[in-house]
Amino acid sequence: MSGTRQSVHGLWSNRLTFILAATGAAVGLGNIWKFPYIMGQNGGGAFVLVYLLCILLIGIPVMMSEVLIGRRGRQSPGLSVKTLAIEAKASTRWQVAGWSGLIASYLILSFYAVIAGWALYYVFKTASGVFVGMPVAEVGTQFNTFIANPYALIAWSTIILALTVYVVGRGVHKGLEKTVNYLMPALFVLLLLMAIYSGINGNFGLAVEFMFKPDFSKLTMNGVLIALGHAFFSLSLASGAMIIYGAYLPANVSIAKTSILIALCDTAVAMLAGLAIFPLVFGYGLQPGEGPGLIFVTLPIAFGNMPFGSMFGVLFFIMLVFAAFTSAIALIESTVAWLVETKGMKRKNATAFTGISLWFLSLLTVYSFAGASWATFDFTLLGKPIKNFFELKDYLTSSIMLPIGGLFIALFVGWIMPAKSTQEELNESTLTYRIWRFAIRWITPVAVIVVFLNLIGVLEFFKV
Ligand code: PHE
Repeated sequence: MSGTRQSVHGLWSNRLTFILAATGAAVGLGNIWKFPYIMGQNGGGAFVLVYLLCILLIGIPVMMSEVLIGRRGRQSPGLSVKTLAIEAKASTRWQVAGWSGLIASYLILSFYAVIAGWALYYVFKTASGVFVGMPVAEVGTQFNTFIANPYALIAWSTIILALTVYVVGRGVHKGLEKTVNYLMPALFVLLLLMAIYSGINGNFGLAVEFMFKPDFSKLTMNGVLIALGHAFFSLSLASGAMIIYGAYLPANVSIAKTSILIALCDTAVAMLAGLAIFPLVFGYGLQPGEGPGLIFVTLPIAFGNMPFGSMFGVLFFIMLVFAAFTSAIALIESTVAWLVETKGMKRKNATAFTGISLWFLSLLTVYSFAGASWATFDFTLLGKPIKNFFELKDYLTSSIMLPIGGLFIALFVGWIMPAKSTQEELNESTLTYRIWRFAIRWITPVAVIVVFLNLIGVLEFFKV
């Protein structure tokens, strides 16, 4: 029901391809690298519970809204929202809901590519067998030495960016579809294997207790914001990705069913990743609150001590690169689509141009880890101490831009777009439609606003 608008970039071949691509966008470093370490830093169970509630009550309705915007607008995020604002006879300023996503995804990719580079390096490092029997402290030292070397980080992230540019440059059919068709199923199988393996070899009981026994005394207000932001990050919301992937979605596919399926897959992968990682963390006496190095410092220790550890380690990191890669593609696509639509650039040139500019921006991330004095600082942003450009880009995007972008999307779709348009586009039973509309008009805006008010201390004022 997309009216007469057409996507100039082509469409997904079928429903399954869209599901694979969107799941590929959702499942990434967020699930496997970030979710475990932020869960570890924020106390485990209670954080997981808040995260799951955010996925269910906010994530799924917002995802439906974004796919809806994309399919009806059929263009890059900013222009799709603008088109729909005109259709709704509302102010075109609403397009900011799309643009902020495009900017956020651009910023995210500038650190995402660097971490994906770490994963790629660890494929080779694990394969070389160096971790076998290596003392625990030495594994940590090796990681710290690696991330302190800017040239190594630049080399690996350049490979990731170059591959992303190559695939996206080939276009929706030849590039994106082909890649996700192969990578996504492989990813699921590998992760399942890993979880079973570490369940047998690690301390499964402690891991389950850590992840699923909520202890609210360990959860701060800031932790709640991080959980909310991560629900957006992990589902690739408010970052333009779901709008642009929706723009390539054929008209007859059910937005509600596919969104629920994607969210379920994403959550399943995050949980599986936790179950693959924490039994090893606890089984080998390691620390859950390690930070961004968690999987790179803890897993190699475990892999170095387990039978067939090197082989499983290599498989694990290959899987991580796959997962990151299908997300990197989604992170760059909105910007590319926009350049093609409005600057008359060829897709290949637009992708190369974006890739090169991202490369420069990624240097801020590289030198944050390398500890260059110009890349490190110390200030507090909305209750969180920020120590370098990486932390700034991460917190600014995931915890601030994504929730606020999501708020604008919810307001636009719930209050500005006429019910007739959204109903026509979703094409669901009255009950499904009503539940979605209630969630998007009330739950998302209220939740996001309350979390932010709480953080800036406004609600304290009303407490007796
Ligand atoms: N969802 C991806 C992940 O979890 C990251 C991402 C965010 C991808 C936004 C696209 C857009 O790793």
